[in-house]
Amino acid sequence: MSASNPWNVAWITGASSGIGRELAILLDGKAEAIAVSARSSDKLEELAALARNVKPHPLDVTNEAAVERCVDAIETEHGPIDLAVFSAGAWTIMNAGEIDVAAIRRGIEVNYMGVVNALAAIVPRMKRRGAGHIAIVASIAGYRGLPRSAAYGPTKAALINLAESLKSELEPHGIAVSLVNPGFVDTPMTRDNPFPMPSLMKAEDAARQLLLGLERRRYEIIFPRGFVYALKLLQIVPNRVFFWYVSSFVMGRRRRSRG
Ligand SMILES: NC(=O)c1ccc[n+]([C@@H]2O[C@H](COP(=O)([O-])OP(=O)(O)OC[C@H]3O[C@@H](n4cnc5c(N)ncnc54)[C@H](OP(=O)(O)O)[C@@H]3O)[C@@H](O)[C@H]2O)c1
Repeated sequence: MSASNPWNVAWITGASSGIGRELAILLDGKAEAIAVSARSSDKLEELAALARNVKPHPLDVTNEAAVERCVDAIETEHGPIDLAVFSAGAWTIMNAGEIDVAAIRRGIEVNYMGVVNALAAIVPRMKRRGAGHIAIVASIAGYRGLPRSAAYGPTKAALINLAESLKSELEPHGIAVSLVNPGFVDTPMTRDNPFPMPSLMKAEDAARQLLLGLERRRYEIIFPRGFVYALKLLQIVPNRVFFWYVSSFVMGRRRRSRG
């Protein structure tokens, strides 16, 4: 660890693709070891072949015992984790009228319980050391309930709330907490979305913004800023304005009725 390299050991979940993968590449050279986790061990091996300090630690974040074993293995092999970025996530488009119970359960298990399992493994260790930095990747979809997001948005809203709880409780123990709320980013997660994605970012640019926020130890890290600020406004407008906006511009009713 040095002034230019604030972390010795970083751990990223959801690092086999998208934002997590790009962050691992950017961290190479900034941390002594970057432990990368996801289920696809082949993709993690490919990533490790590209980056000198990247170390694969395959993992299904929904398996609580496996998460504990994984953290143990990372710390035994590379040393104490200074930075933990929880980016593993699953998105399923769902028309709320359909109520796909399996999709909702999967969203909760991966997006929410996956983070909880990781926290359960890492927080006691960071507390004992009185140091550490945890970043939870949520989403602007957690700001307010958006159409077709019923299997996803509620899990991200829960993460936003969880990060707020943790920040005040962990700071006195020397642990920084960051909440990452991306807008639309071009990754395998969004590639098949059948709707327009305003201000869509490249995954490398998203990871660059994420790294900058981590280096500055910001609480909420957002990108792309303009689009996320617009979404933040929807948090404070009255409900009737919010629902008018959603039916007019997100559901496209106004455009259809005009056409
Ligand atoms: N892309 C966007 O527009 C956007 C916007 C807002 C927020 N986000 C959030 O950003 C994070 C990264 O998403 P992304 O866009 O980079 O998507 P992505 O490319 O699909 O990455 C998702 C990652 O999560 C991993 N993952 C999924 N289920 C897992 C499990 N059970 N255990 C361990 N790893 C698992 C995937 O790897 P394996 O399949 O190999 O396990 C993959 O590495 C997610 O939390 C997502 O919700 C994305």
